[in-house]
Amino acid sequence: MNMTPRHFTSLLDLSSEEFRHIIHRAIELKNNRDPNYQPLKGRVLAMIFEKSSTRTRISFEAGMVHFGGSALFLSPRDTQLGRGESMHDSAKVISSMVDCIMLRTDKHETVTTFAQYSSVPVINGLTDKQHPCQLLADMQTYFEFRGDIRGKIVAWIGDGNNMCHSYLQAAKLLDFTLHIASPEKYQPLPEFVNAVGNHVKFFDNALEAAKNADLCVTDVWASMGQEEEQKQREFAFKDYQINAEIMAAANQNALFMHCLPAHRGEEVTAEVIDGSQSVIYAEAENRLHVQKALLEFLLTNP
Ligand code: CP
Ligand code: NVA
Repeated sequence: MNMTPRHFTSLLDLSSEEFRHIIHRAIELKNNRDPNYQPLKGRVLAMIFEKSSTRTRISFEAGMVHFGGSALFLSPRDTQLGRGESMHDSAKVISSMVDCIMLRTDKHETVTTFAQYSSVPVINGLTDKQHPCQLLADMQTYFEFRGDIRGKIVAWIGDGNNMCHSYLQAAKLLDFTLHIASPEKYQPLPEFVNAVGNHVKFFDNALEAAKNADLCVTDVWASMGQEEEQKQREFAFKDYQINAEIMAAANQNALFMHCLPAHRGEEVTAEVIDGSQSVIYAEAENRLHVQKALLEFLLTNP
């Protein structure tokens, strides 16, 4: 077994070149599906979910099957992890039996601790701080519809959350500018903002942030685990909805993205998310293709 596995706990585990390679490879895999290409035959992915998921679970599971391997869905409720077995022991034991581990956890540190003790690659399937797999899919989608995102402007309107943090990292890696409009109390964490230099600009209102944007993105106002804050967040975010007026302020050919699940009428109007500039379903489908490219990148030597 490889003594120093290649992890994907954050977008920053990739160089700019590797990020672009994975995007292009994902587009290739999507357009030329060859059922006989099974680079992960007999390999096993363990998937640990502390939180709910539709896209992440299905895309990883289907991707492993396409590549000739298989995936195990592990809920802490049914494993000893839920009864307090240490991360250290769990990572060592699970990684001795499988070829890759994907985790969706509340605390980001759970994923990095797993990576520290795992003998196989560890993939971040969403934490409280980051959602790097979603950014791979979003960027693949932008490249497919509009070409390279270098030099473009992306408007992030809404919560300065895990998705926003991963957008900040993508801005630096792929060389675009991120315009952020978030309520004062819901700004992205300084550790993410300070790491990207002049790839970010902050705006007091959503309309200003959308001006000249090539892509407008948002996410739910209350993420998983914040359900009890829903009412206070609805109040705080009421001026941070992506609607037709916001899209009209962006460039004429701007795209709209949302990682889903979405709340129509809150962070985005139905008119926008179901409108002609929205690419949400391609974005969701691309989770499958780009994670296959990621698994191939991490687990084989192409
Ligand atoms: N976008 C995303 O990660 O979706 P799921 O929560 O359904 O996995
Ligand atoms: N910010 C959301 C993303 C869901 C895919 C959450 O963490 O719940």
